[in-house]
Amino acid sequence: MSLLTDKKILFGITGSIAAYKVADWVRALRREGCQVTVVMTESACRFISPLTMAALSGNPVHTDMFSAIAPETIPHITLAKEHDLLLIAPASAQTIARLAHGLADNLLATIALASSGPVLVCPAMNSVMFQHPATQANIAAIRSHGYQIIKPDCGKMACGDEGPGRLTEWENVRQAILTAFAPQDLANEQVLITAGPTREPFDPVRFLSNPSTGKMGYALAATARQRGATVTLISGPASLNVPPGVRCIQVTTAAEMQAQVMASLETTTIVVKAAAVSDYRPAEPQAHKVKKGKAALSLPLIANPDILKELGERKRDSAKFPVLIGFAAESRDHLKEGARKLQEKNLDLIVVNDISGTETGFAADTNRVTLLDRNGAQEEVPLLSKEEAAHRIWDAVTRLLEA
Ligand code: CTP
Repeated sequence: MSLLTDKKILFGITGSIAAYKVADWVRALRREGCQVTVVMTESACRFISPLTMAALSGNPVHTDMFSAIAPETIPHITLAKEHDLLLIAPASAQTIARLAHGLADNLLATIALASSGPVLVCPAMNSVMFQHPATQANIAAIRSHGYQIIKPDCGKMACGDEGPGRLTEWENVRQAILTAFAPQDLANEQVLITAGPTREPFDPVRFLSNPSTGKMGYALAATARQRGATVTLISGPASLNVPPGVRCIQVTTAAEMQAQVMASLETTTIVVKAAAVSDYRPAEPQAHKVKKGKAALSLPLIANPDILKELGERKRDSAKFPVLIGFAAESRDHLKEGARKLQEKNLDLIVVNDISGTETGFAADTNRVTLLDRNGAQEEVPLLSKEEAAHRIWDAVTRLLEA
């Protein structure tokens, strides 16, 4: 089950060479359980076949203002009404000009005029065309009509030119679609999230760490952004893409994470400590690679600062302090340990996480968590994708904020 399951997306394709790229986007939407109906302009049909789009979307493709099969229907009105969101990608300079001036001279432009739901527009064209004052004025005009523009990337184009105008990546569009459907209940919040493992070096080529991938923290960052928050992610080494619209500060050690968290506190209203911080670090990191040869080697460790505990202590002395959310990674006595950490670290909410199973462990795409809050409420969240679990955590946080 995805957050997009059963959403009805009307997908408008216009005449740009990037049309071939969106065939994959249609598949991605269907994989997430969306119902997709494709509308193509005449020029779009010269770049990619309606047959391809019909097969990929699983629905007939609409190209004409007037239906030959059912002349009594009014396609532009029915299509606009029957869908939750209109996505226009790639959007050519010509279509953007049509939308800017409210022209209704083809099916797609007429549907846009008749749509009352969200309209997302992904421009794609040669960079000189994109930067032309006429196109820029048209983009500003459609923005003022309430359409959301997902700006194109910079790079090499099919025509050989280089610059802004390349169709954006799917991840940015997915995030924009999810944002359009998400409640904007974190719109006034400045959220700070830590994610991933830390690495504690003992010589220039070796370190102490853990198997955290950062997936849960990155999902929290993406979903907070979807719900309108301004998000800063402080991430230990992770190989994930930073979610669109999220500011990311990369760190390596627990000490670096601690410094960055404390430096960001002033402007923060909610802190979520999803990082798997190494509790210990080598006492004497070596400047040069430790050579083999000894039969045994022992590695003295010293304790790292407990960043969350320090935040909890500061919270005790401060009337106005960010809402504090911690995680508890447990392999046994989950609830007992979670409740202990909630109290000892003076948290508002703790997310208790079973790290022993394959569906809920460090690198899993899914998670099953229990939420314990400062008022004694306990919520069992079933096995969900980390993105859906993140939304359930934000639901609990917004309930706390309201209280
Ligand atoms: N945490 C932290 N700094 C540390 C250790 C943990 O900020 N040095 C935070 C984690 O980000 C998490 C919470 O504290 O939000 C609990 O982490 P966890 O590893 O479950 O527990 P610990 O406090 O380290 O205790 P233990 O290892 O004994 O279970």
